[in-house]
Amino acid sequence: MTATPRFLVIEGIDGCGKSTQVERLAGRHGWLATREPGGTALGGAIRALLLHGTEAPTPLAEALLMAADRAHHVTTVVRPALEAGTTVLSDRYASSTVAYQGYGHGRDLEQIAAINAIATDGLVPEMTILLDLPVADAAGRRGGDPDRLESLDVAFHERVRSGYLAQAAASPDRWTVIDATQDLAEVSAAVDEALGLP
Ligand code: TYD
Repeated sequence: MTATPRFLVIEGIDGCGKSTQVERLAGRHGWLATREPGGTALGGAIRALLLHGTEAPTPLAEALLMAADRAHHVTTVVRPALEAGTTVLSDRYASSTVAYQGYGHGRDLEQIAAINAIATDGLVPEMTILLDLPVADAAGRRGGDPDRLESLDVAFHERVRSGYLAQAAASPDRWTVIDATQDLAEVSAAVDEALGLP
């Protein structure tokens, strides 16, 4: 009997080490690794507009573009994979829009929830792993060429971090917070434990 496919998400501020964990887990377990924004060809174009476009979108336009990416991603990638019996691990999901556009930019959280409800069509991850670390630590780990959101000030990223912690505190059964200041082996072990992996 095959195990029930799971929809798992990994979240955190820029530079928290998500990509390393996604690569490790997907490679080891044969899961589908995907991401938002940019998990589809259309999403790749939306991602380029959002992060490297010539004109910064308004915060509402930013939230709606993230949601358009998500709606397309959920329908064309995530749901079909789950239906085919594949576990899906997404680098960011709706909780990023709550953290960045809601807490970071200060958009109304109920409005963000309504936008997310449309975009996800009710698909909620079984578990979201939050790799949490102080903003200064994360900034030190990021590469040299920051995208538009990475270039925003420390206060923005502090609000994003607190937005993640608030979401995790509100749904402890669906979120696990991991101290990402630990070394890689310790973070990996904590992630495995949170997901019930050997
Ligand atoms: P990410 O892919 O993690 O960046 P990188 O590949 O550089 O590590 O995320 C891209 C950026 O998009 C990141 O700054 C967070 C932002 N973002 C939002 O603001 N809202 C969202 O809903 C999502 C999914 C991402």
